[in-house]
Amino acid sequence: MSDVFKSRVAILGMGYIGLPTAVVIATRGIDVIGVDINPATVAALSRGEVPFVEPDLAVAVSGAVAMGRLTATTETPEAEAFIIAVPTPFNEDRTADLSYVKAAAEQIAPRLKSGNIVVLESTSPPGTTQKVGDWIGALRPDLRMPRDGETGADVFIAHCPERVLPGRIMIEMITNDRVVGGLTPRCAEKAASIYRLFAQGEILLTDAASAEMAKLVENAYRDVNIAFANEISLISESLHIDVWEVIRLANRHPRVNILSPGPGVGGHCIPVDPWFIVSAAPQLSRLIRTAREVNDHRPHHVAGQVVENAKRFRSPTIACLGLTFKANVDDVRESPAIDVVGLIAKALPDVEILVSDPYVSVMPGLLSKYDNLHLEGAHQAVERADIVVLLVEHEPFKAMRHTRLAGKVIYDTRGAWH
Ligand SMILES: NC(=O)c1ccc[n+]([C@@H]2O[C@H](COP(=O)([O-])OP(=O)(O)OC[C@H]3O[C@@H](n4cnc5c(N)ncnc54)[C@H](O)[C@@H]3O)[C@@H](O)[C@H]2O)c1
Repeated sequence: MSDVFKSRVAILGMGYIGLPTAVVIATRGIDVIGVDINPATVAALSRGEVPFVEPDLAVAVSGAVAMGRLTATTETPEAEAFIIAVPTPFNEDRTADLSYVKAAAEQIAPRLKSGNIVVLESTSPPGTTQKVGDWIGALRPDLRMPRDGETGADVFIAHCPERVLPGRIMIEMITNDRVVGGLTPRCAEKAASIYRLFAQGEILLTDAASAEMAKLVENAYRDVNIAFANEISLISESLHIDVWEVIRLANRHPRVNILSPGPGVGGHCIPVDPWFIVSAAPQLSRLIRTAREVNDHRPHHVAGQVVENAKRFRSPTIACLGLTFKANVDDVRESPAIDVVGLIAKALPDVEILVSDPYVSVMPGLLSKYDNLHLEGAHQAVERADIVVLLVEHEPFKAMRHTRLAGKVIYDTRGAWH
């Protein structure tokens, strides 16, 4: 009979991953304590409010808080299991910044008791779960940390990467298969007992480094395939061939499935995680590095095209539709749309640029330095614009009537109006 976890869980990091995880566990009747270093996040959660937009999350959080199953605090408490879901951005040199994970491990260490479980959910380079054990072990010499090939550890440490899609997190958190990689097989089995509470997908047990690498490879796979589509777009454009038509036709081949080109790759997974592979094996990661470079160049290409078009007008107005990193979410992290808007604003300081996004009500910090940028409702922006640049295919933009666009120069980076 497999273990099923029954005690109290503390989750460190109440963001896009930690909070939905907390809620799905709390709704299975387990007491969950959400820990975050941001007091505003803790205050919002304590009122039963969610500090960001994710479908179906708000109602689940307010329910779990009202039932007393989910509480929030800035102080790491004692618990039987700890889940780390803090950010793992990259440094200037594109190596992983593990300072948040280390801080979380050090917060957990003084609270840890024999028999506790620690799961790292943050996307991490191979070897990080072992480092979590080392960091905790350095502060708790009284506890035996798990080591490969050894038995008899006092605590159980594992990696369980997250692969949910923003906008569908509450569904995919339940339905996706989960990979659980332990520092030892017993660690994997213990950590899996938490995911068995709510996961309907299969739970696949492995070692920690394989789990870490599998997550990175998933995102590098996406990145390389998007880079292929973006390169096809660039080549087609130079040959005056319609890339959307080319992809539509090629995808009728039974074993071809080309992804959609776009203005670049955003969010805080796909543009970041492949670099963790590159920095782990720089000489061997040629394709993965090139894909990153191809995708990183896209905003420059799109902005360049718009700037060229603008030169055809005496005093043009440009509407840029969309700022988030993908459609129908409010997440602007690493958003290529923001890069495109910034590059256009910088290249055309005398041109008025109207920016519209139904999910963004305040100009993102990176863009606030440009005086020629103004947030505007989509219909007004399009009405006033000579050039309309579609950067994110939010539903309201897709549904925009073609008659509104008549007579404008259209730059549709997503193929949404095709
Ligand atoms: N967002 C996604 O779609 C997604 C998908 C898969 C994997 N991931 C990975 O999950 C991890 C978390 O991502 P996210 O999107 O939830 O990040 P996020 O920025 O939304 O949330 C992270 C939270 O951690 C808090 N935090 C930072 N240091 C802390 C500490 N020491 N103790 C307690 N709280 C702390 C922050 O205040 C923040 O609220 C990252 O490694 C990310 O790569 C994210």
